[in-house]
Amino acid sequence: MLNIAVLISGSGTNLQALLNAQKEGRLKAGTIRLVISDRPDAYGLTRAAENGIPALTINRKDYRDSREFGKAISEHLRAHDIHLVVLAGFLSILGEAIVREYSHRMINIHPSLIPSFCGEGYYGLKVHRAVLEKGVKVTGATVHYVSEVADGGRIIMQQPVFVREDDTPESLQKRVMEEAEWIMLPKAVDQVCTALTYKEERQVENESL
Ligand code: GRF
Repeated sequence: MLNIAVLISGSGTNLQALLNAQKEGRLKAGTIRLVISDRPDAYGLTRAAENGIPALTINRKDYRDSREFGKAISEHLRAHDIHLVVLAGFLSILGEAIVREYSHRMINIHPSLIPSFCGEGYYGLKVHRAVLEKGVKVTGATVHYVSEVADGGRIIMQQPVFVREDDTPESLQKRVMEEAEWIMLPKAVDQVCTALTYKEERQVENESL
């Protein structure tokens, strides 16, 4: 079983979807061992505590820049022997060193169908406001590997959601969460953990040849 850390900044409803999946036995190849928030008031910290998951705040405000911040996070991930890092509504920039260290072992969920409505400045309600302003008929969510380019890593999974005539940014955000994010993220996490486990087993086999 791989060790998973979930990084949050806000309400943690995607974290909750992962916790529910874990409780219901739908995470077969990984276990959530740690929750890290970049701000002390994230409700996701309460969700972690309610589920007995160790949680800590590494406050972005306490660090000079993304590099120092990423270094601090990396130290805690290593201390907990974390194999997979899941960014679930995590809003801080992590810096290149930790992204390289966790290459293909760090994933993110974004509330649009990448490459649309992503990158610099696209987060939270801003994404859904832009979707409605553009008038697209289909949106959704994407789980992708984290790379040095914001929202630019290889896509793992996507789930479409149809836009309704009477949608507001709030109603669309809620439906994308309910019909795409909360369903897809646990599946993507289990799929990536399974793939990483398989890869590790092959490496061990090759080393023993
Ligand atoms: C979600 O819409 C997620 O796609 C985006 O930020 C939001 C976080 O929500 N990255 P929550 O903290 O998981 O409730």
